[in-house]
Amino acid sequence: MKLSLTARPLETRTQDAWIVFVQNKKPLLSGSPELSRQISARIKKTGFSGDYAQTAVFPNIGKSGNIVLAGLGDSNHFRMEYLERAASAAVRAGKNIGLKNFATVTEAGIGKVSETSFVRAVARGTAWGTYSFDTFKTGKKKREAFSLTFAGPCENAAACRNALSEAELESRALISTADLANLPGNEATPQKVATWAQKMAKETGLTYSALNKAELKKKKCNAILAVAAGSAQDAKIITLKYKGTNPKAKPVVIIGKTITFDSGGISLKPGKGMSWMLYDKCGGMAVLAALQMVALLKPETPVIGMLAVAENMPGGNAARPGDIIKAHNGKTIEILNTDAEGRMVLADALSLAQQHKPAAIVDLATLTGACIVALGHTAAAIIGNDSKLNATLIKAGDAAGERFWELPLWPEHMDDMKGTFADLQNIGKSGTAGTITGAAFLANFVPEGTPWAHMDIAGTAWEESSKPWTDPGATLFGARTLVEWIKGMK
Ligand code: BES
Ligand code: ZN
Ligand code: ZN
Repeated sequence: MKLSLTARPLETRTQDAWIVFVQNKKPLLSGSPELSRQISARIKKTGFSGDYAQTAVFPNIGKSGNIVLAGLGDSNHFRMEYLERAASAAVRAGKNIGLKNFATVTEAGIGKVSETSFVRAVARGTAWGTYSFDTFKTGKKKREAFSLTFAGPCENAAACRNALSEAELESRALISTADLANLPGNEATPQKVATWAQKMAKETGLTYSALNKAELKKKKCNAILAVAAGSAQDAKIITLKYKGTNPKAKPVVIIGKTITFDSGGISLKPGKGMSWMLYDKCGGMAVLAALQMVALLKPETPVIGMLAVAENMPGGNAARPGDIIKAHNGKTIEILNTDAEGRMVLADALSLAQQHKPAAIVDLATLTGACIVALGHTAAAIIGNDSKLNATLIKAGDAAGERFWELPLWPEHMDDMKGTFADLQNIGKSGTAGTITGAAFLANFVPEGTPWAHMDIAGTAWEESSKPWTDPGATLFGARTLVEWIKGMK
């Protein structure tokens, strides 16, 4: 997606189509009363709902000939993701009828949305709208070139240009990582993820290192080793470092669950829907996308990304229910269910994070089906040991167009994870509050005194069916929030 900015008004543009946002059923075109009037009349005539991410193409209005309307719903319920998704949906609707070059306004006057947030969200949304995962489609066409011009004066042109170039870098990182995240388990092996991360690090100036099986053994990372034991693929813990422009600042560590395929292991999952577990690497994928964005945007704060990578398979060497192992921090764990593997790989990674003396740790994981029961596909759960950190991340999520809902972590939940024959067990005794007890398990491996937040992205990491704003596949949920959070640190 080629993005550009011009001070000349929308009415002067001759692109294939103008994208016009619609809120409360009204076109957001305050600078163009005549055009507004024409569009409003057509909205009335056609009965276009204007619901969020709904689109309509109106031919034969204005100089361009085509207007793609993109609904934002009602102003009372506005959220940033609606804007990003509406922009995406508009481009997808246009693309379907062969439109490639779009223009839109620089500022739509949506409530409290600043000019730069508007430009960033729309640019990112339209770029995502052009993406589809076609790596395995034979006879596919070359990826087509699309463009979007923001037309009209900006209050602060330099800030607008900056937001646009940042959005361009962010989109590049999101889309290239999506191509990895969407690969199935036979393609995206732990080794392939490592090679990909190493190449990306080299291209963007990050430092790459990885612990292989022998090194993990030496460091007594037996929790992640137990997960990989049934697989022909070795586990890895990958670390990517961004130095930051403030050498005095302590780093933040972000850790991603990266299970390249989760069969459940000996506690085998039912067959129905098991193929979705190729997306069980999406915590790690969000970390990769975030680090790539950070490397390009160069914020002050140093950032360390860690990926706990393994494949969870049944096999002759696989961990059995009842097995007891000792994790990196010395705590012993009864593995009562081999399908609760995400927390095992994260346990060692969290404990290894201590060496970086982090200011904060955030982990992202497609950790529990229970998270989908609780929150559906609308929001991720956030749970941690520091309510201020949670609040900051939720706020960053609101600005970045990703919704989080905080769940509690109480002593009762910690008790639920205590083992009968070992310090801990990897599933709760009560069988309740699955998302919280998953986090309670993780809390045992967080370095003492470190602010920590856990994001359960099980319901938000991928789309199972086509939506107006996206094809099915990985969403990289979490990456946008992490970057928003890191950029906001001083
Ligand atoms: N990867 C799954 C969680 C998951 C399920 C994510 C469905 C997205 C969609 C995870 O490893 C898992 O299997 N968790 C178990 C935990 C249980 C055994 C305590 C679950 O959620 O059932
Ligand atoms: Zn599992
Ligand atoms: Zn899993």
